[in-house]
Amino acid sequence: MEHSAQPAHAAGASAKPGSDLRPHEVTTTLPPEHDAGVWFIGRVHTPWSDRSECPRKGEAADGALCEIRLDPRWQEALAGVAGKAQLQILYWMHLARRDVLRQNPDFGDRSIGTFALRSPLRPNPIASSVVTLERIEGTSLFVRGLDCVDGTPLIDIKPVFCFDEEPKGPSDAHHS
Ligand SMILES: C[S@@+](CC[C@H](N)C(=O)[O-])C[C@H]1O[C@@H](n2cnc3c(N)ncnc32)[C@H](O)[C@@H]1O
Repeated sequence: MEHSAQPAHAAGASAKPGSDLRPHEVTTTLPPEHDAGVWFIGRVHTPWSDRSECPRKGEAADGALCEIRLDPRWQEALAGVAGKAQLQILYWMHLARRDVLRQNPDFGDRSIGTFALRSPLRPNPIASSVVTLERIEGTSLFVRGLDCVDGTPLIDIKPVFCFDEEPKGPSDAHHS
């Protein structure tokens, strides 16, 4: 389904008092309904209680040790994960606004399009990081390389490569 909406220039020099928009940022009107749903499959526990404390980008080599706590209903889906050195983690930036088209990441005198940035402010606030897996205890994965607030919802865990090697041939679209 496609929705059209006119961009709303909601910020600029005259950003409204109390607005969390920065100068030169631009928003749009969100569609009236969602097109799909997601299940949160767990939560990410980190040392950071506020966005301003988080690293801008996680460091897989020497970042803080974080705990990915998976909902136990998905435990069986961890079979095979313990052998992976690195994982790709997808998480839902639940504190981010979703209507911003142009952003001013450094409080400069210009703005950049949302799709040219890895900012959490996006229509579907999905973040991804490649992390180093330190160990698994039950349904908890201890990893380095995250950059999110404590309690951020988890939406997926994937190997960087399924068989720890680059894919060489055409893939089986269902299982690869
Ligand atoms: C720039 S994003 C990068 C996220 C991910 N590594 C990526 O590239 O998709 C990381 C920043 O998002 C912000 N952030 C962290 N957790 C958040 C949350 N739950 N909701 C909204 N913003 C969050 C913090 O300011 C953090 O520094």
